[in-house]
Amino acid sequence: MSTETDTSASPSSSDKGQALLEFRKVNTHYGAVHILKDVDLEIYPGELVCLLGGNASGKTTTLKALLGMVKPTSGEVVLNGEVVNNQPISYRVSNGVTMVPENRRLFKRLSVLENLMLGAYLRNDKAGIKEDLEYIYDLFPRVKERLTQKSGTLSGGEQQMVAIGRALMSRPKVLLMDEPSMGLAPALVQQNFELIEKINNEGMAIFMVEQNANMALSIADRGWVLQTGMVVLNDSAEALLANPEMRAAYLGEA
Ligand SMILES: Nc1ncnc2c1ncn2[C@@H]1O[C@H](COP(=O)(O)OP(=O)(O)O)[C@@H](O)[C@H]1O
Ligand SMILES: [Mg+2]
Repeated sequence: MSTETDTSASPSSSDKGQALLEFRKVNTHYGAVHILKDVDLEIYPGELVCLLGGNASGKTTTLKALLGMVKPTSGEVVLNGEVVNNQPISYRVSNGVTMVPENRRLFKRLSVLENLMLGAYLRNDKAGIKEDLEYIYDLFPRVKERLTQKSGTLSGGEQQMVAIGRALMSRPKVLLMDEPSMGLAPALVQQNFELIEKINNEGMAIFMVEQNANMALSIADRGWVLQTGMVVLNDSAEALLANPEMRAAYLGEA
């Protein structure tokens, strides 16, 4: 909960140092359709940030442009201070960005271990890979018990752990997550947010798109709100939770 957050973990913007990942006035188009409009955003090391907004507001497009699946028509995507507009996904993954896609997208006929190893496909440091597998087994003992099982036979909660584990196998500095609670049984949604909080507490920066604004803001440091491709709000999670405009539009209070 934000009330229990150590404020030293979310310093003011003046003393945060260099952002891990940024948008500077990013615009994107699908064909002639203008989607993101002059979007500025930044994610600092160790932060848990959420991106909120209604359907079709451009949230997934934002994640895709950060990872390199969508190319901006203008503006800059900046990773560790370097403009990466012309760098492919593989370069960005190797330099610390990775995504847990919408609906988790596991290879259902592959085993749990095979799925995890796919996350390490750009690496060849065997010792490091082994170390990271052990880290994931510590984090998710359930995953370790199911290594040889086909991923499609896992429960939704277990699939989420494998999807996060696979993303962690690229040793990211920042994890992009697209609607991680979508499609999970209601009882698992709380568990899902606890899991995300736990990974963030381990020091991982997380940029999370969520429909579940209340729960997302209850664990986040900061949040952005997109409306038809424009940033309309950008504030601390606490301030957003208290914002009347926000409460009316996204937190279920008419
Ligand atoms: N590949 C695509 N081609 C054309 N239009 C797209 C494509 N992907 C998304 N869109 C459109 O772009 C807008 C923003 O989509 P998206 O970023 O997926 O929104 P969100 O994730 O906020 O729901 C929507 O109107 C959507 O229909
Ligand atoms: Mg989306």
